[in-house]
Amino acid sequence: MCHRIILIFALSYLMALSLYGQSKSSPVYLYDEASVEERVKDVLSRLTLQEKIDLIHAQSKFSSKGVPRLGIPENWLSDGPFGVRPENLWDKWGSAGWTNDACTALPPLTCLAATWNPELAYNYGKVLGEEARYRNKNVILGPGVNMFRTPVNGRNFEYMGEDPYLASKMVVPYIRGVQESKVAACVKHFALNNQETHRSKINVIVDDRTLYEIYLPAFKAAVLEGGVWSVMASYNRYKGQFCCHNEYLINNILKGEWGFDGVVVSDWGGTKDTMQAIRNGLDLEFGTGTDGMLMDSDNPYDAYFMANPYKNLIEDGVVGTEELDDKVRRVLRMIFRTNMAKDRPFGSFVSEEHFKTCYDIAKEGVVLLKNEGLLPLNASDYKTILVVGDNASRTLSNAGGSSMLKPAKEVLTLDAIRKYVGDKAEVKYARGYQAYMPGYEPDNLDLLRQEAVEEAKNADVVIYVGGLNRWSYQDCEGRDRLGYELPFQQDALIAGLLEANPNTVLMLHGGTSFSMPWRDKAKSIVYAMYGGSENGSVLSDVLFGEINPSGRLPFTMAEYLDDYPSHALGIYDPDNKEDVVYEEGLYIGYRWMNEKDIKPMYPFGFGLTYTGFEWGEPSISSNRLKSVQEVVLPDSDSEAKARDSKKIKIRIPVTNIGEMRGAEVVQLYVRDVEAYLPRPEKELKRFCKLWLEPGETGIAEFELQEDDLRFFDPQKHAWVSEKGEFEIMLGSSSEDIRETLKLILV
Ligand code: BGC
Repeated sequence: MCHRIILIFALSYLMALSLYGQSKSSPVYLYDEASVEERVKDVLSRLTLQEKIDLIHAQSKFSSKGVPRLGIPENWLSDGPFGVRPENLWDKWGSAGWTNDACTALPPLTCLAATWNPELAYNYGKVLGEEARYRNKNVILGPGVNMFRTPVNGRNFEYMGEDPYLASKMVVPYIRGVQESKVAACVKHFALNNQETHRSKINVIVDDRTLYEIYLPAFKAAVLEGGVWSVMASYNRYKGQFCCHNEYLINNILKGEWGFDGVVVSDWGGTKDTMQAIRNGLDLEFGTGTDGMLMDSDNPYDAYFMANPYKNLIEDGVVGTEELDDKVRRVLRMIFRTNMAKDRPFGSFVSEEHFKTCYDIAKEGVVLLKNEGLLPLNASDYKTILVVGDNASRTLSNAGGSSMLKPAKEVLTLDAIRKYVGDKAEVKYARGYQAYMPGYEPDNLDLLRQEAVEEAKNADVVIYVGGLNRWSYQDCEGRDRLGYELPFQQDALIAGLLEANPNTVLMLHGGTSFSMPWRDKAKSIVYAMYGGSENGSVLSDVLFGEINPSGRLPFTMAEYLDDYPSHALGIYDPDNKEDVVYEEGLYIGYRWMNEKDIKPMYPFGFGLTYTGFEWGEPSISSNRLKSVQEVVLPDSDSEAKARDSKKIKIRIPVTNIGEMRGAEVVQLYVRDVEAYLPRPEKELKRFCKLWLEPGETGIAEFELQEDDLRFFDPQKHAWVSEKGEFEIMLGSSSEDIRETLKLILV
């Protein structure tokens, strides 16, 4: 680490108050907005009260009514974030038994985030949008951008990690990709849904600054930069009110401060009160568990909070129709943006192109955690290759709760290894362990372990494929994990394998962190994520060097559960159904590790490759920066020129000094040295993934503005920047800072 340049950066004022948070902003539109508004207005003027009411709640598990009389189509929604879910029965949870609904299974969003490649996020969204369009869905229930706050959250794998900036950068292109097919993305779960345990009961207490700096940025980016057409409100409470009709979150922030003009969809069964739903911004009610979910009524959905109970209030004169018209306008707007868009493409389904995109994403999401010379393997070097582990021979995409898929294809790792190795070596398989639900431990675990360990002694190399799976209590909706360790007694098995054969490669699936008590003994550890349809092919290609790993952790992997703030502070309590106080404030993930000086096993942003990189001298410039130490006073240039003049450009050359094409991810963190409110030691503000051929030099280039240095002042309810010293840190992970540059705002 070195400190090189002292800069004086001039501002036209000492402290700037941001307009964000104080006035309405306009989302980005990617279509002819004016004609949509005219059509919405016209239709609205023709609707009866009943037709309006019919438009704002479900008619089945995943659809809501249109206006048949006027040819306005129904809305058809589908999970989920990683592919188009198989068709569900009309009224009950269960497969509709269709045979034409097996989709491309994309890798979960943690894997996408681990690519640190926004272009892949766009390609991801494009595949999803095309498949949803083909399946005649006009809303896809994703992406999820809740922050990784505790590693035991059962849904971490559905989200984009622990950093608001990384998640924001990945969510925007995802949404654009989806919505190009005229399918609405539905960013979820708004907001503060960071655990599954008692998710429908708990009331989150968080200070405003933390809300705005940590938990809202990805949603804000989805709205203002992604132009998302729908948002799903979450199950939990905030300020005592359920988030599906939360005045503060929906009316004040989402629709007020951010000017969101799309549809707020309730999470399934998240609506609890008619009057609050009317007043507090809910537009479309789904999954309510009233009598309507049973089969014993002629038209059960009439019992929804936003069905007859709402209509009765209007007819009795208790409420007016102003809110109803606003909700209907939004629903119609979404229909015109999607189902009734003039230039709606046809979509496509389960194509080779889609599998290729899936492969490319999974490929860049795999994170190499440790490698002491064992990887990549050369199949011809071995006589016997032993594959161990339940995850090597099972599909992983067809579970996980609402994100479960029926994949048209999912390559098993064992099959892919066998195919790749061919007759170069003998490939044997031992299951080693068997997955089971807590409390249903099978009797044969010891036997499976012993068999695998015995086999390992005689193998030339062992490939272990384990980790979490997508069953309940693992990476799965509805329940959190019961502990931090790997399930199914894998720790004993892994320790046994490492003892029996030091040439054991560990490939561990997951979408969150877990303990690794044996990690010092392991030569090579691969964090395999989940690769969707191409899972096995990608893992086999990583093993044998067809792929050079380039993924970086989007979350911190700490040694112990108590290294995470919600556990260290005793906040995460599975028995607590009431207030969950986010006492750690801004300090989640690496922000906490830095603050408390905890050295994680593998830090945020970390990942190895099969090649090596050398970083050159960084440079920093701005056309307002005359020279080091010089104060440049504000001038009276036009606003645009003045804005441009405040840009800081940072460049750093990186050279691939190895023998294989590979990628370095240059990460730019900022530290505000003298803030009047405490700030984290590091905040990610930019990143750049450079793919380089052997010997090639690339330049990571960044542009920063004063806005990037701001923080949220809860007293002023505004983003502020202040004068003083900042450090700009360039690193290869949040713990591996290679260069530190100084910047002084005056
Ligand atoms: C989940 C949502 C999902 C919905 C519909 C809920 O349980 O929280 O993420 O989209 O179900 O399946």
